[in-house]
Amino acid sequence: FQHTALAGKRVVITAGPTREALDPVRYISNHSSGKMGYALARAAVEAGARTTLVSGPVHLATPDHVERVDVISAREMLAACQDLAGDCDIFIACAAVADYRPATVQEQKIKKGDERSTLELVRNPDIVATIAGGQPRPFTVGFAAETQDVESYARGKLERKHLDMIVANDVSAEGVGFASDENEVCVIWRDNAQRLERAGKLTLARQIMQLIATRLDAARMD
Ligand code: C5P
Repeated sequence: FQHTALAGKRVVITAGPTREALDPVRYISNHSSGKMGYALARAAVEAGARTTLVSGPVHLATPDHVERVDVISAREMLAACQDLAGDCDIFIACAAVADYRPATVQEQKIKKGDERSTLELVRNPDIVATIAGGQPRPFTVGFAAETQDVESYARGKLERKHLDMIVANDVSAEGVGFASDENEVCVIWRDNAQRLERAGKLTLARQIMQLIATRLDAARMD
């Protein structure tokens, strides 16, 4: 079935981890599998949207009819998203972007030496906040992985990053989140929230796209 609100719309989704180089052979990253972002891309295509995945390094096949832009680092992911933002109706930030990167990337492999070593890190740009603060501004959706007070922390991020909607999950719960096939989330927007029961990521992705379609319709009525 097709949500009329999403038919022909341009949807850009970030997915997977980013990888921040230390030297030619080493990097800092995280365990994001990319499954939720890829499920969202599939659900967006099913809803009739023209869909682009901006993907960090993952071991997943590209869903049918999805355009995929591969990136490695957070700064590359930001640049790819900014290139696409001018022609984007809905931006969904599902990637687990590394918050920090090494302050310098060594040209040669770092040699071991002293017993202790410190690494200087610098903050990465916030991709979803940058896109939400830009012009033109797509309908912007973020994700929040929390281990406590899920709804209040997520609502804080919604406000701070100027998002239209945020999908929050409790990553401390067993059997959900990162590498899992299932998730259990709470979708929050400015004037309301809705809990989605534990389900497979594709099922949840379809429900999230449906909620986005409804919010888009509501925004058009305003
Ligand atoms: O602040 P926090 O990392 O918990 O926010 C998570 C949300 O922000 C996710 O939607 C994630 O994709 C996005 N994000 C981003 N760029 C960053 C950090 C997070 O787009 N540098």
